[in-house]
Amino acid sequence: MPTAMLQIDYVNVLAAALGPAHGLTPAEIKRAESAVKHVITRIESERKNGRHRYRDLPDDGNMLNAVKTAVRKFKPGVENLVVLGIGGSALGNIALQTALNPPLHNLLPKNKRRGPRLFVIDNVDPVQFANLLDILGPAIKKTLFNVISKSGETAETASQFLITRDLLSKKLGAKNLAKRLVVTTDPETGTLRQLADDHGWYTLPVPDGVGGRFSVLSAVGLFSAAMCGINIDKLLTGAAEMSRRVASKVVRKNPAAMLALLLHAFYTRGKRMHVLFPYGYQLKDLADWYRQLWAESLGKQHDLEGRPVIVGPTPIKALGATDQHSQVQLYREGPNDKVFIFLEVEKFARDVKIPRGKGTPETLKYLEGASLERLLSAERRATEFALAASHRPCLNIRFPRVNEQTVGQFIMLWEAATSIMGGLLNIDPYDQPAVQLGKEYTYALMGKPGYEKLARRFAKRAGKTGRYSV
Ligand code: PA5
Repeated sequence: MPTAMLQIDYVNVLAAALGPAHGLTPAEIKRAESAVKHVITRIESERKNGRHRYRDLPDDGNMLNAVKTAVRKFKPGVENLVVLGIGGSALGNIALQTALNPPLHNLLPKNKRRGPRLFVIDNVDPVQFANLLDILGPAIKKTLFNVISKSGETAETASQFLITRDLLSKKLGAKNLAKRLVVTTDPETGTLRQLADDHGWYTLPVPDGVGGRFSVLSAVGLFSAAMCGINIDKLLTGAAEMSRRVASKVVRKNPAAMLALLLHAFYTRGKRMHVLFPYGYQLKDLADWYRQLWAESLGKQHDLEGRPVIVGPTPIKALGATDQHSQVQLYREGPNDKVFIFLEVEKFARDVKIPRGKGTPETLKYLEGASLERLLSAERRATEFALAASHRPCLNIRFPRVNEQTVGQFIMLWEAATSIMGGLLNIDPYDQPAVQLGKEYTYALMGKPGYEKLARRFAKRAGKTGRYSV
């Protein structure tokens, strides 16, 4: 059976819907096509030289086998899976779980779950971590920890790891540590790799050339997904289908190209905030994942030639219908500087009917006999219509259903759109130099050797700040 495909509707970005001041004309779109085509041609040729490696992940049979082998080895008897990671080493794992397992999965009884309870801890909040340790306490013997860090150096993940290692050693003995640990890291380099090799811990690779935020379809995201019963074959099939579509040089047939073209066209017109607005709880954490991908990849101060540019759209997440009651006032009447990208679910996995009953007030009778699916869908259409009536551009990405294939397509769609948008902005979407300085300041404050000079600078500054506090 052919897979249902995601579809992007863009009628509500056109001048015919929004008026000439805010909408795009078909002629403008046509004119923008050649630059996009040029970028796609470049990307496809660079792929032959090993660039844009995330595009090859859906066809990486070795990686898939490595993940499946690890799942076969570790899944039996495991009641809790704890993922320790941050940024690109966590957001995809969370998004897959929310999208493809039932809401509140961890609260379901064991026989209703397809795998262990999953805890993805992507922070070093002491209260959160201490509570997790309390919850795991008696079940530590049936808990598996998956430490994920491509660099193997990240302070947050390293500290979580050191706490966990100590706990496991004390409770189970140093010899048994290896049975409760899977390390996902660079195959060659980094402190975590070194430790894992020295102690013979089980490892999974983060493929070379695949950056954190592009790594969800590697062992980084696939191991926890498969442990929790998500069908990773189908996820990769969906991604592979999209990877083929986004290679097309016919811009109108290429969803990533159209997405990048339209968002870039609005960016150049000053609409630089891109609100991803899922109407479906299952899709809500994909909005967090998108936010990192779009922000960290595209916010740059130098172009490919090293010239200063300062570019980058601001990704925002919202959730329908919840945020209609918190943000839509701003979105319709505030500055017209945003593009809205709705996520529609055509057919939900489940539905709930609103019953008829005695004594329903006349004013609520219109709801009787309807379903929550119909109501949520009406709210999405109504909100899009209302925004368009206020001349705000809206795109709609339609999921025929939320399942492994369509989620795989969605991930590849945005990753490819990010590469194309990077090309249109003439920046490198795969680096993140600005994150480094904050890391170095943290090292200095935590007393890491080699950062003494920065630490002294901090101490000097600390003396002054008191004067400017209220
Ligand atoms: O996309 C990125 O590169 C970052 O968000 C990283 O994923 C994040 O900083 C974590 O890095 P690491 O996996 O090396 O611990």
